[in-house]
Amino acid sequence: MGGSEGHRLFPEGFLWGAATSSHQVEGNNVNNDWWDWEQLPGKVAHGDKSGDACDHYNGYRQDFAMARDLGHNAHRLSLEWSRIEPAEGRFDRGAVEHYRDVLGTLKSFGMATMVTLHHFTNPRWLTAKGGWARPEVAGLFERYSRHVAEQLGDLVDFWVTINEPMVYATHGFLLGLWPPEKKSIVLAFRVAKNLAKAHGRAYHAIHEVLGVRGRRPMVGIAKNMMLFDPKNPASRLDRMVAQKLDRIFNRSFLDALANGVMAFPVVSRETDPRLDGTQDFIGVNYYSRSLAAFSLRKPQMLFMDLSVKEDAEKNSLGWEVYPEGLYRILMSVKGYRLPVYITENGIATTDDRQRERFIVAHLREVARAIADGVDVRGYLHWSLIDNFEWKEGFAPRFGLVGVDYKTQARNIRPSARLYSDIIRTGSLP
Ligand code: GAL
Repeated sequence: MGGSEGHRLFPEGFLWGAATSSHQVEGNNVNNDWWDWEQLPGKVAHGDKSGDACDHYNGYRQDFAMARDLGHNAHRLSLEWSRIEPAEGRFDRGAVEHYRDVLGTLKSFGMATMVTLHHFTNPRWLTAKGGWARPEVAGLFERYSRHVAEQLGDLVDFWVTINEPMVYATHGFLLGLWPPEKKSIVLAFRVAKNLAKAHGRAYHAIHEVLGVRGRRPMVGIAKNMMLFDPKNPASRLDRMVAQKLDRIFNRSFLDALANGVMAFPVVSRETDPRLDGTQDFIGVNYYSRSLAAFSLRKPQMLFMDLSVKEDAEKNSLGWEVYPEGLYRILMSVKGYRLPVYITENGIATTDDRQRERFIVAHLREVARAIADGVDVRGYLHWSLIDNFEWKEGFAPRFGLVGVDYKTQARNIRPSARLYSDIIRTGSLP
C-alpha cells in the first residue's frame, strides 16, 4: 500500500488529529463528581488524584501548536460542564471566555474543532440531584448544550454530545467501578435511556440555535465499540452471548438514535420520535476485543462473562491489541449510512515502538474499510498527550506526546513523528 500507487488510501479533506477530555488534561476541575471521588482513599490506582493533570487549562496554546506542527488538521476536546455551569442555572462568563480562547486558538491554527459536551464528569450540583439516574437530567443537559451552542457555536465544527454513553452507564451504575459506584442493572439501563434522551434534546437544541445562523451543525456521539467474539467459537451459547453483547453494548444506543426506539434489557422499551435520526455522523471509539462466554456464575450480568484472549498482544492495561477489530467495527456501522469519524483509537504503553505498530496496523484497517465502502472521514488518535486515565490514574501512557507530571514538560515521541509522516504523505509505511 502506498500513495505512489496512484490511489488515495484516505479521502481528500480527511481529518487527522488527536483527542483529549477536560478532566483528564486540564487540571483542577474542583467542581465535578470525579474530583470529589478521587479524594477518597482507594478509588484511583496508586492514590493518584487528577490535581494539575497536564495543566492543559493553562498550556493549551503550546499543546495545540505542537499538534499543528505535527500536521494535525483537527482536534477533539471536551468542555467541562462544571466550569461552564458551576451552580444550577448559573453560567460562568469567564469559563465561556476561556473556551472561546481555546477553540479560537485551534481555529487560528487552521484546525477543525470537535467538541464533546459530556465526557464522564458531572457538575457537583447535578450529582447532588441524583445525576444521570434522574429523568430531569435530559432537560438540564439540554439547557447547558443550548448555552454552549449560543456562546461557542461559531467556533465548533463537530459536536459530540456524549462520550461513550454505554461505558458511562455500565462503569458508574452496573459495575460500580466509577462514581457514583452503583451496581444495578436496572439503574444502568435507566441511565442509558436518560443519556439517549438527553442526547436527543441536545441534538435538537444545537440544530435550532445554529440552524438559524444558516449553518448545518454536525452532531453525533462518540460510541465506544468493543469487538465481541465467542470465547469458544464452537459453542452455540458463547456465540449467542457474543451476539447479544454486540447488540446491547454496541448497537442498542446507536439504533435508538437511528430509529427512536430505546430497546435496552430489563427496562421498559420506549419510543421517542424526536430521537429518530439524531446523528449527523457516527463517532467510533475503538480500542480492543473481548471474548464472550456463557456463564452460570454470572446471573447479575445476564449470564455473560468477558475475558481477554490469552496469547494475544496486549497493552499495558491488559487489553488485547486487535487491529482487525477496527475494520470489522467500521463495516458493522456502514448500514447506518452516515459519515464515520474515528473519535478515539489508541494504546496505553511504555514501549513507543508498540504504539508505532499500533497506529500503522489500525490505519491499515481504516484504509481497508474505506476501500470497502465505509465513508470514514477522519481519525482522532487517543491521545495527544499522556493524561489522567480515570480509575487507573497517571500510570497508563496513551500520549503521542509524553508528559512529565513533575515539570509539565512535553516530550514528542517517535510515534508522534511517524503519525505526522502518515498525515503528510497520506500513505502507510
Ligand atoms: C475511552 C475514554 C477516554 C480514555 C480512553 C482510554 O473510553 O473516552 O476518556 O480514557 O478510553 O481508556
